[in-house]
Amino acid sequence: MPEKIAIVGVGLVGSAWAIVFARAGHRVALYDATEGQCEAALARIETNLEALQGHGLIDDPAAARARIAVSTGLADALDGAAYAQESVFERADVKRAVYERIDGIAGPDLVVGSSSSGIPCSTFTEGLDIGPRCLVAHPINPPYVIPLVEMVPAPWTEEETASRCWALMEAAGMKPVRLTREIDGFIANRLQAALLWEAFRLLEGGYATAKDIDTTISAGLGRRWAFIGPFETIDLNAPGGLADFCARLHDGFYEFVKQSEPAQPLSDAVVSKAHEERRGRLPMAEHGDRQAWRDRRLMGLAAHLRDAGRDAGE
Ligand SMILES: NC(=O)c1ccc[n+]([C@@H]2O[C@H](COP(=O)([O-])OP(=O)(O)OC[C@H]3O[C@@H](n4cnc5c(N)ncnc54)[C@H](O)[C@@H]3O)[C@@H](O)[C@H]2O)c1
Repeated sequence: MPEKIAIVGVGLVGSAWAIVFARAGHRVALYDATEGQCEAALARIETNLEALQGHGLIDDPAAARARIAVSTGLADALDGAAYAQESVFERADVKRAVYERIDGIAGPDLVVGSSSSGIPCSTFTEGLDIGPRCLVAHPINPPYVIPLVEMVPAPWTEEETASRCWALMEAAGMKPVRLTREIDGFIANRLQAALLWEAFRLLEGGYATAKDIDTTISAGLGRRWAFIGPFETIDLNAPGGLADFCARLHDGFYEFVKQSEPAQPLSDAVVSKAHEERRGRLPMAEHGDRQAWRDRRLMGLAAHLRDAGRDAGE
Protein backbone atom coordinates (compact mmCIF):
# COMPACT_ATOMS: atom_id res chain seq x y z
CA MET A 1 0.00 0.00 0.00
CA PRO A 2 1.42 3.43 -0.90
CA GLU A 3 2.47 5.35 2.21
CA LYS A 4 4.15 8.64 2.98
CA ILE A 5 7.86 8.20 3.73
CA ALA A 6 10.00 10.95 5.29
CA ILE A 7 13.71 11.16 4.51
CA VAL A 8 15.51 13.00 7.31
CA GLY A 9 18.91 14.09 5.99
CA VAL A 10 19.12 14.02 2.22
CA GLY A 11 22.85 13.75 1.52
CA LEU A 12 24.32 10.93 -0.52
CA VAL A 13 22.40 8.15 1.22
CA GLY A 14 19.14 9.95 2.02
CA SER A 15 18.70 11.03 -1.61
CA ALA A 16 19.32 7.46 -2.75
CA TRP A 17 16.69 6.18 -0.30
CA ALA A 18 14.21 8.66 -1.80
CA ILE A 19 14.57 6.84 -5.13
CA VAL A 20 13.98 3.43 -3.51
CA PHE A 21 10.72 4.51 -1.91
CA ALA A 22 9.40 6.66 -4.76
CA ARG A 23 10.16 3.88 -7.27
CA ALA A 24 8.06 1.56 -5.08
CA GLY A 25 5.07 3.92 -5.34
CA HIS A 26 5.36 5.78 -2.02
CA ARG A 27 5.11 9.53 -1.55
CA VAL A 28 8.45 10.82 -0.30
CA ALA A 29 9.03 13.96 1.78
CA LEU A 30 12.59 15.32 1.90
CA TYR A 31 13.94 17.19 4.93
CA ASP A 32 17.46 18.45 5.61
CA ALA A 33 18.85 20.92 8.13
CA THR A 34 21.32 22.44 5.67
CA GLU A 35 20.08 25.03 3.22
CA GLY A 36 20.22 23.96 -0.42
CA GLN A 37 20.65 20.24 0.36
CA CYS A 38 17.11 19.27 -0.71
CA GLU A 39 17.55 21.03 -4.06
CA ALA A 40 20.92 19.34 -4.56
CA ALA A 41 19.29 16.02 -3.64
CA LEU A 42 16.55 16.54 -6.22
CA ALA A 43 19.15 17.18 -8.93
CA ARG A 44 20.97 13.94 -7.99
CA ILE A 45 17.68 12.06 -7.86
CA GLU A 46 16.67 13.23 -11.36
CA THR A 47 20.04 12.22 -12.84
CA ASN A 48 19.90 8.82 -11.19
CA LEU A 49 16.28 8.15 -12.14
CA GLU A 50 17.25 8.77 -15.76
CA ALA A 51 20.23 6.42 -15.49
CA LEU A 52 18.05 3.74 -13.89
CA GLN A 53 15.61 4.00 -16.78
CA GLY A 54 18.50 3.50 -19.19
CA HIS A 55 19.19 0.14 -17.52
CA GLY A 56 15.54 -0.93 -17.38
CA LEU A 57 15.52 -0.61 -13.59
CA ILE A 58 12.52 1.72 -13.37
CA ASP A 59 9.36 1.81 -15.47
CA ASP A 60 8.23 5.39 -15.01
CA PRO A 61 10.92 7.79 -13.69
CA ALA A 62 8.70 10.85 -14.20
CA ALA A 63 6.00 9.36 -11.96
CA ALA A 64 8.61 8.47 -9.32
CA ARG A 65 10.01 12.00 -9.46
CA ALA A 66 6.50 13.46 -9.10
CA ARG A 67 6.04 11.54 -5.84
CA ILE A 68 9.04 13.29 -4.23
CA ALA A 69 8.52 16.68 -2.56
CA VAL A 70 10.62 19.01 -0.44
CA SER A 71 9.16 19.66 3.04
CA THR A 72 9.03 22.99 4.80
CA GLY A 73 10.49 21.49 7.98
CA LEU A 74 10.81 18.31 10.05
CA ALA A 75 7.20 18.47 11.30
CA ASP A 76 5.94 18.86 7.75
CA ALA A 77 8.02 15.88 6.60
CA LEU A 78 6.77 13.65 9.42
CA ASP A 79 3.13 14.75 9.17
CA GLY A 80 1.17 11.65 8.14
CA ALA A 81 4.34 9.61 7.47
CA ALA A 82 4.28 5.88 8.18
CA TYR A 83 8.05 5.54 8.11
CA ALA A 84 11.07 7.86 8.37
CA GLN A 85 14.52 6.97 7.09
CA GLU A 86 17.02 8.98 9.16
CA SER A 87 20.19 9.59 7.16
CA VAL A 88 22.00 12.43 8.99
CA PHE A 89 25.74 12.50 9.73
CA GLU A 90 27.31 9.41 11.31
CA ARG A 91 27.69 11.04 14.73
CA ALA A 92 25.88 9.83 17.83
CA ASP A 93 25.36 13.40 19.15
CA VAL A 94 23.86 14.63 15.84
CA LYS A 95 21.61 11.58 15.60
CA ARG A 96 20.52 11.95 19.24
CA ALA A 97 19.52 15.59 18.67
CA VAL A 98 17.48 14.60 15.61
CA TYR A 99 15.72 11.76 17.45
CA GLU A 100 14.86 14.09 20.34
CA ARG A 101 13.19 16.42 17.84
CA ILE A 102 11.39 13.53 16.12
CA ASP A 103 10.22 12.31 19.55
CA GLY A 104 8.41 15.56 20.17
CA ILE A 105 6.65 15.54 16.80
CA ALA A 106 6.03 11.95 15.71
CA GLY A 107 2.57 10.46 15.51
CA PRO A 108 1.89 7.24 17.44
CA ASP A 109 2.44 4.93 14.45
CA LEU A 110 5.64 6.33 12.98
CA VAL A 111 8.51 3.82 12.59
CA VAL A 112 12.02 5.27 12.22
CA GLY A 113 14.90 3.44 10.58
CA SER A 114 18.43 4.82 10.84
CA SER A 115 20.94 4.53 7.99
CA SER A 116 23.67 4.34 10.68
CA SER A 117 26.71 2.51 9.32
CA GLY A 118 27.77 1.11 12.65
CA ILE A 119 26.49 3.16 15.60
CA PRO A 120 23.82 1.05 17.34
CA CYS A 121 20.54 2.91 17.69
CA SER A 122 20.43 2.29 21.45
CA THR A 123 23.12 5.00 21.70
CA PHE A 124 20.76 7.68 20.35
CA THR A 125 17.22 6.47 21.20
CA GLU A 126 17.53 5.58 24.91
CA GLY A 127 14.75 6.94 27.08
CA LEU A 128 12.72 8.39 24.20
CA ASP A 129 9.00 7.63 23.84
CA ILE A 130 9.65 6.73 20.23
CA GLY A 131 12.51 4.33 21.16
CA PRO A 132 10.40 1.15 20.77
CA ARG A 133 9.58 2.25 17.20
CA CYS A 134 13.22 2.82 16.18
CA LEU A 135 15.80 0.49 14.70
CA VAL A 136 18.78 0.62 12.37
CA ALA A 137 18.04 0.04 8.67
CA HIS A 138 21.54 0.23 7.23
CA PRO A 139 21.95 0.26 3.43
CA ILE A 140 24.95 -0.22 1.18
CA ASN A 141 25.27 2.79 -1.07
CA PRO A 142 23.45 3.29 -3.39
CA PRO A 143 20.42 1.32 -2.17
CA TYR A 144 18.50 1.72 -5.44
CA VAL A 145 20.94 -0.75 -7.02
CA ILE A 146 22.32 -2.63 -3.98
CA PRO A 147 19.35 -4.18 -2.20
CA LEU A 148 20.86 -5.20 1.15
CA VAL A 149 19.45 -3.53 4.25
CA GLU A 150 20.69 -4.58 7.68
CA MET A 151 17.98 -4.31 10.30
CA VAL A 152 19.34 -4.00 13.83
CA PRO A 153 16.98 -3.61 16.78
CA ALA A 154 17.86 -1.83 20.03
CA PRO A 155 17.02 -3.81 23.20
CA TRP A 156 13.74 -1.84 23.40
CA THR A 157 12.70 -2.07 19.73
CA GLU A 158 9.24 -3.64 19.48
CA GLU A 159 8.78 -6.71 17.32
CA GLU A 160 6.07 -4.93 15.35
CA THR A 161 8.57 -2.17 14.46
CA ALA A 162 10.95 -4.71 12.96
CA SER A 163 8.21 -6.58 11.11
CA ARG A 164 6.73 -3.37 9.66
CA CYS A 165 10.15 -2.18 8.52
CA TRP A 166 10.93 -5.60 7.02
CA ALA A 167 7.64 -5.65 5.08
CA LEU A 168 8.14 -2.09 3.79
CA MET A 169 11.71 -2.83 2.66
CA GLU A 170 10.82 -6.10 0.95
CA ALA A 171 7.91 -4.51 -0.89
CA ALA A 172 10.30 -1.76 -2.07
CA GLY A 173 12.60 -4.38 -3.62
CA MET A 174 15.18 -4.39 -0.83
CA LYS A 175 16.73 -7.55 0.68
CA PRO A 176 16.54 -7.15 4.44
CA VAL A 177 18.66 -9.18 6.83
CA ARG A 178 18.05 -9.07 10.52
CA LEU A 179 20.47 -9.10 13.44
CA THR A 180 19.10 -10.57 16.64
CA ARG A 181 20.84 -7.90 18.73
CA GLU A 182 23.21 -4.97 18.49
CA ILE A 183 26.90 -5.26 17.68
CA ASP A 184 29.15 -2.40 16.54
CA GLY A 185 29.53 -2.37 12.75
CA PHE A 186 26.66 -4.86 12.30
CA ILE A 187 27.45 -7.60 9.74
CA ALA A 188 28.49 -5.76 6.59
CA ASN A 189 31.04 -3.37 8.03
CA ARG A 190 32.53 -6.01 10.34
CA LEU A 191 33.12 -8.23 7.29
CA GLN A 192 34.36 -5.27 5.27
CA ALA A 193 36.72 -4.17 8.06
CA ALA A 194 38.22 -7.67 8.39
CA LEU A 195 38.95 -7.73 4.66
CA LEU A 196 40.28 -4.15 4.60
CA TRP A 197 42.63 -4.70 7.53
CA GLU A 198 44.06 -7.78 5.85
CA ALA A 199 44.40 -5.91 2.54
CA PHE A 200 46.34 -3.09 4.27
CA ARG A 201 48.48 -5.68 6.06
CA LEU A 202 49.47 -7.30 2.76
CA LEU A 203 50.22 -3.89 1.24
CA GLU A 204 52.23 -2.77 4.28
CA GLY A 205 54.29 -5.96 4.12
CA GLY A 206 55.08 -5.26 0.48
CA TYR A 207 53.54 -8.57 -0.65
CA ALA A 208 51.60 -7.02 -3.54
CA THR A 209 50.46 -3.71 -4.96
CA ALA A 210 47.09 -2.18 -4.03
CA LYS A 211 46.10 -2.78 -7.66
CA ASP A 212 46.80 -6.52 -7.46
CA ILE A 213 45.03 -6.82 -4.11
CA ASP A 214 42.00 -5.06 -5.66
CA THR A 215 42.15 -7.37 -8.69
CA THR A 216 42.12 -10.40 -6.38
CA ILE A 217 38.64 -9.33 -5.33
CA SER A 218 37.29 -7.82 -8.57
CA ALA A 219 38.50 -10.62 -10.86
CA GLY A 220 38.40 -13.36 -8.22
CA LEU A 221 36.55 -13.63 -4.94
CA GLY A 222 34.09 -10.84 -5.72
CA ARG A 223 32.80 -12.60 -8.83
CA ARG A 224 31.06 -15.17 -6.65
CA TRP A 225 30.13 -12.71 -3.94
CA ALA A 226 27.78 -10.83 -6.28
CA PHE A 227 25.31 -13.69 -5.89
CA ILE A 228 26.48 -16.12 -3.17
CA GLY A 229 28.02 -15.40 0.21
CA PRO A 230 31.05 -16.90 1.99
CA PHE A 231 29.22 -19.85 3.55
CA GLU A 232 27.58 -20.90 0.30
CA THR A 233 30.90 -20.38 -1.48
CA ILE A 234 32.75 -22.89 0.68
CA ASP A 235 29.75 -25.25 0.71
CA LEU A 236 29.98 -25.47 -3.09
CA ASN A 237 33.79 -25.71 -3.12
CA ALA A 238 34.18 -29.21 -1.68
CA PRO A 239 32.54 -32.43 -2.84
CA GLY A 240 31.16 -33.09 0.65
CA GLY A 241 29.98 -29.53 1.26
CA LEU A 242 30.88 -27.03 3.96
CA ALA A 243 32.12 -29.50 6.61
CA ASP A 244 34.30 -31.21 4.00
CA PHE A 245 35.77 -27.82 2.99
CA CYS A 246 36.60 -27.10 6.62
CA ALA A 247 38.13 -30.54 7.13
CA ARG A 248 40.39 -30.00 4.11
CA LEU A 249 41.40 -26.38 4.64
CA HIS A 250 40.84 -25.51 8.27
CA ASP A 251 44.36 -26.11 9.56
CA GLY A 252 46.06 -24.34 6.66
CA PHE A 253 43.77 -21.33 6.91
CA TYR A 254 44.09 -21.20 10.70
CA GLU A 255 47.90 -21.02 10.43
CA PHE A 256 47.74 -17.70 8.60
CA VAL A 257 44.61 -16.35 10.30
CA LYS A 258 46.52 -16.61 13.60
CA GLN A 259 49.20 -14.31 12.17
CA SER A 260 46.67 -11.44 11.92
CA GLU A 261 46.19 -11.07 15.65
CA PRO A 262 46.11 -8.84 17.56
CA ALA A 263 44.49 -6.00 15.60
CA GLN A 264 46.54 -2.82 15.20
CA PRO A 265 45.47 0.65 14.06
CA LEU A 266 46.38 1.35 10.43
CA SER A 267 49.65 3.28 10.23
CA ASP A 268 49.75 6.67 8.51
CA ALA A 269 52.45 5.21 6.28
CA VAL A 270 50.28 2.40 4.89
CA VAL A 271 47.31 4.71 4.37
CA SER A 272 49.59 7.11 2.42
CA LYS A 273 51.05 4.23 0.43
CA ALA A 274 47.59 3.00 -0.61
CA HIS A 275 46.36 6.53 -1.30
CA GLU A 276 49.37 7.43 -3.44
CA GLU A 277 49.03 4.27 -5.49
CA ARG A 278 45.34 5.00 -6.04
CA ARG A 279 46.05 8.63 -7.04
CA GLY A 280 48.68 7.41 -9.48
CA ARG A 281 45.95 5.35 -11.15
CA LEU A 282 43.07 7.78 -10.60
CA PRO A 283 43.85 11.50 -10.18
CA MET A 284 41.35 13.25 -7.88
CA ALA A 285 40.14 15.28 -10.88
CA GLU A 286 38.72 12.03 -12.34
CA HIS A 287 37.28 10.75 -9.05
CA GLY A 288 33.69 11.89 -9.71
CA ASP A 289 33.67 10.40 -13.19
CA ARG A 290 34.89 7.09 -11.80
CA GLN A 291 32.11 7.14 -9.14
CA ALA A 292 29.56 7.64 -11.92
CA TRP A 293 31.20 4.79 -13.89
CA ARG A 294 30.94 2.52 -10.81
CA ASP A 295 27.26 3.38 -10.40
CA ARG A 296 26.54 2.59 -14.07
CA ARG A 297 28.34 -0.76 -13.69
CA LEU A 298 26.25 -1.45 -10.58
CA MET A 299 23.09 -0.69 -12.56
CA GLY A 300 24.18 -3.10 -15.29
CA LEU A 301 24.91 -5.74 -12.66
CA ALA A 302 21.55 -5.16 -10.93
CA ALA A 303 19.74 -5.60 -14.25
CA HIS A 304 21.73 -8.76 -15.02
CA LEU A 305 21.11 -10.30 -11.59
CA ARG A 306 17.39 -9.47 -11.83
CA ASP A 307 17.14 -11.15 -15.24
CA ALA A 308 19.29 -14.12 -14.16
CA GLY A 309 17.08 -14.56 -11.09
CA ARG A 310 13.98 -14.50 -13.28
CA ASP A 311 15.54 -17.13 -15.57
CA ALA A 312 16.20 -19.29 -12.52
CA GLY A 313 12.58 -18.88 -11.42
CA GLU A 314 13.52 -16.98 -8.23
N1 LIG B 1 28.00 7.15 2.36
C1 LIG B 1 27.80 5.85 2.44
O1 LIG B 1 28.35 5.07 1.64
C2 LIG B 1 26.87 5.28 3.47
C3 LIG B 1 26.40 3.97 3.32
C4 LIG B 1 25.50 3.46 4.25
C5 LIG B 1 25.08 4.23 5.32
N2 LIG B 1 25.56 5.51 5.46
C6 LIG B 1 25.08 6.29 6.60
O2 LIG B 1 24.06 7.17 6.15
C7 LIG B 1 24.07 8.35 6.97
C8 LIG B 1 24.24 9.57 6.07
O3 LIG B 1 25.46 9.45 5.37
P1 LIG B 1 25.76 10.24 4.01
O4 LIG B 1 26.95 9.59 3.41
O5 LIG B 1 24.51 10.39 3.25
O6 LIG B 1 26.20 11.66 4.61
P2 LIG B 1 26.05 13.10 3.92
O7 LIG B 1 27.03 13.97 4.63
O8 LIG B 1 26.11 12.98 2.43
O9 LIG B 1 24.56 13.53 4.29
C9 LIG B 1 24.13 13.81 5.60
C10 LIG B 1 23.01 14.84 5.50
O10 LIG B 1 22.43 15.00 6.80
C11 LIG B 1 22.11 16.37 6.92
N3 LIG B 1 21.96 16.68 8.34
C12 LIG B 1 22.92 16.81 9.27
N4 LIG B 1 22.37 17.09 10.47
C13 LIG B 1 21.04 17.15 10.28
C14 LIG B 1 19.93 17.39 11.12
N5 LIG B 1 20.10 17.67 12.41
N6 LIG B 1 18.68 17.33 10.58
C15 LIG B 1 18.51 17.06 9.27
N7 LIG B 1 19.53 16.86 8.42
C16 LIG B 1 20.77 16.89 8.91
C17 LIG B 1 23.26 17.11 6.25
O11 LIG B 1 22.92 18.44 5.90
C18 LIG B 1 23.50 16.22 5.04
O12 LIG B 1 22.72 16.64 3.91
C19 LIG B 1 25.20 8.16 7.98
O13 LIG B 1 24.70 7.59 9.16
C20 LIG B 1 26.10 7.18 7.26
O14 LIG B 1 26.94 6.43 8.11
C21 LIG B 1 26.43 6.06 4.55
